[in-house]
This record gives sequence, structure tokens and C-alpha cells, in this order.
Amino acid sequence: MSGHGTPTPMTSSPCGPLQGEAHVPGDKSISHRALLFGAMAVGETVITGLLEGEDVLDTAKAMRAFGADITRDEDGVWHVYGVGVGGFAEPDTVIDCGNSGTGVRLIMGAMATTGISATFTGDASLNKRPMARVTDPIALFGAQAVGRSGGRLPMTIVGAAEPVPVRYEVPMPSAQVKSAVLLAGLNAPGQTVVIEKEATRDHTERMLAGFGAEITTEVTDAGRVITLTGQPELEPQTIVVPRDPSSAAFPVCAALIVPGSDVLVPNIGLNPTRAGLFTTLKEMGADLTYENLREEGGEPVADLRARFSPNLKGIEVDPARAASMIDEYPVLSVVAAFAEGETVMRGVKELRVKESDRIDAMAKGLRLNGVEVEEGEDWWIVKGRGAGNVPGGATCESHLDHRIAMSFMVMGMATEAPVSVDDGSPIATSFPIFETLMGGLGAELSKGGA
Ligand code: S3P
Repeated sequence: MSGHGTPTPMTSSPCGPLQGEAHVPGDKSISHRALLFGAMAVGETVITGLLEGEDVLDTAKAMRAFGADITRDEDGVWHVYGVGVGGFAEPDTVIDCGNSGTGVRLIMGAMATTGISATFTGDASLNKRPMARVTDPIALFGAQAVGRSGGRLPMTIVGAAEPVPVRYEVPMPSAQVKSAVLLAGLNAPGQTVVIEKEATRDHTERMLAGFGAEITTEVTDAGRVITLTGQPELEPQTIVVPRDPSSAAFPVCAALIVPGSDVLVPNIGLNPTRAGLFTTLKEMGADLTYENLREEGGEPVADLRARFSPNLKGIEVDPARAASMIDEYPVLSVVAAFAEGETVMRGVKELRVKESDRIDAMAKGLRLNGVEVEEGEDWWIVKGRGAGNVPGGATCESHLDHRIAMSFMVMGMATEAPVSVDDGSPIATSFPIFETLMGGLGAELSKGGA
């Protein structure tokens, strides 16, 4: 369960050059899936490099409640003894997924086609987020859901004892929804087909194939058509979780805006469904290079080198790239504040239903720190002030959203006056070593307000 009991204000003060290597933690999306798929395999899955952030620890706890045995060695290696597809036990307590939309939505999908019931809840942020996007498709398999008004948590799912396979076109670009439907399809007989118009992160498809499921993806005019054959026996795996490009975004962006910086962020997965931010930054004129580009586990991986970039230019971000950088818009908007000219971000209404309404949260904080922002339902524009010309000096609300908190901490490294957030505790959901890691590069972060 997430520990958001006591808000912890945090302040970032203008700092000297950021220098050194930033070893960011394991990928959050892949970590959730490794635990979940391991719990649905028969036998022992071994995971190294797991992100030990609150979100993922909540998923581990949930999988134990559904009957999997999960242990952690002292050296950080995790062992998951799975119960097999359709083998979940009914939890005897409420499942608290903390802050994690990925955790709750994927688990709901996975249990929806087993004949058990489970009740889910989360923190104040998660309990505001829309769940109908998952309960609608799982109803097609035969599952039932009873939650609060507007399809919010807390919510009970009654799994379908005799599920039928479905064909489902995902109405919004969402890897969580796609994954929930595929995981429900795992325990339905026959073939479940999921169609997505825009490509979203494909970790579920890749990892299910790795666990031995029969799953294919066909790229058609209608989008990506993913076909899964139900009721496989998943074979346990040894998984090495790559480092998270969404966490790498923070030291990379900080280095671009802090004068004199030169930071190396080694071993970052550059799966094209995740790497949109780095392409965008290069288009803005960032001094960002991929060193030692290689393939690992079928995925492109590189060491990212980011150096201070005094001549960043605002650009119109290609909306077709939105899904591949959806979690990176908050920190991109900070970089945009230090660019010359406007950065226009369109086709991003999904940002409004993340851990917070991220357009609203960033726009408010940027304005408080002297940056002009315009916004509409699915677009926003940041009016850049140029390198070294952003006032700062304000306290921003993080709205229980780790990426909002970290983005403003990055901003305060390069503003004229310090920037604070009212609560830095959500950072522990995805990047528990953020303060130490950034401090090691030369950032001046402290607990407490300005
Ligand atoms: C995730 C999918 C994305 C992303 C989230 C992680 C995943 O959410 O924002 O941080 O692991 O599948 P949506 O599927 O809601 O876009």
C-alpha cells in the first residue's frame, strides 16, 4: 500500500553542473507484468532488476493475496511461484493497489475470467480514476463489476466462471486497457482479439510470447490486430527487467537545462513504443546521443548521454508520437519552458486521467513559476522563455502524482529561484532513489518547503 499518509514538502534549488552516471531503476511497466505473468505461470519465475517502488510492491502483495508465493533474496532477486492460468485463489481481503492504475487494471483483467470475486481499492488519486475502460470490456467476457458512481474504485469484480472469448477494439490509446483485455483472454477458451488504432507500449504482447502463449500481432489499415489463443500453460521465465526510459527522462531533461551538465544514463531500453521523448528532445535541438546502441532480449538498448543544451527550440510535437511518450509530457513541458518559442502538444487528452490531470497540474505550476501556458481539452502550449530565463520561486501541488513532483524538482535545478512541491512522497511509487541519484549528480534537493 502506498504511504501517502504524511505529505513531505520538497525543494529543488538552482545547482551547478550535473555530472556523472545515473543508474535509474527498473522499468515500472515491465516489473508489474513480470510479477503478474509469473503468478500465472506454473512453477518458479526469477526476476532481477525489478523496480522496488511502491506501485510494484503493491502488485507483489496483490499477487500473494491471489495465491502466488513470492519471495525476495537479500541481493534483490525475486522469485514468483505461480498458480497457473485460471488458478487464482479468491483473496480474503480487499486488494489495495495504492497509486497504481497499471496494477489495478491489469489485475482486474487477469481475474475477470476466473470464477472468483475480488474487491479493489487505492489511494485518493487512484480512487478518482476511470475504471469503466476496463469493466466495459471484461463484461463482454461475462464478468460483473460494482463500484462507485462514475465507475470508480472501490470496486468489486465478480469473475466469469464460464468466460467467452471476445473481439474488442480499444476506444482510447491505452496499454493498460489492451493488457487487461488480453489477460482476461488468457483464461477464456478460443481466440481473443484486441484491436488498437494507435500503437501503445507492447510489453504485454512481448512478455506473453516469452512465457509461451500463442499471440500474434498483425499491422493492418484498422490498426494493430492482436490475437491471443486462450488457456495456454504459461512457462516460468527468468526475467531481467531493463531500466526505465520514463525514469531516465528526469536526469536526461535535467542535464539539458542545467548549464555545464554532462550526464550518462546507461542501459536504457529504447523500445519504439516508449522512446518518443528522446526523438522529440532531439528535434528541439537537445545534445542527446545514444552511445553503445545494442540489442538485449530483443529490445534496442543504449547508454543515453545528455549535455547542457543552451539553444533548445520549441516545436510542434507530432501527435502520432503521443502514446510513445505519454508519461513524459510533464517533464517535456519543463524542458519546453527553457526553450526559445512555443512547444505545442496535441492529441494528449489521456493526460487528464493519469495519476492527476497532468495538463492542469503542470500548467498551474508552470504559471506560478513564471511560464505562460495555454491549454484546451486535448492540447497545451508552453511558451518557452529560453535557457537561464525561468524565474521559479513558487510551490507547486503534486496531486499525489510522482511525475508531477519529479518534473518540478527538475525545473528548480535551473530556475532563478528554488521550486518546491507540497508533497514529494509520491516519488517513491516509481523512483524511490530519485533524491539520492539526482543529488549524486549535483542536484540540490531538500526535504521541506522553500
Ligand atoms: C502503462 C500504460 C500507460 C502509462 C502507465 C503505464 C502500462 O497508461 O501511462 O504509466 O504499464 O501499461 P495507459 O494505458 O492508461 O495509457
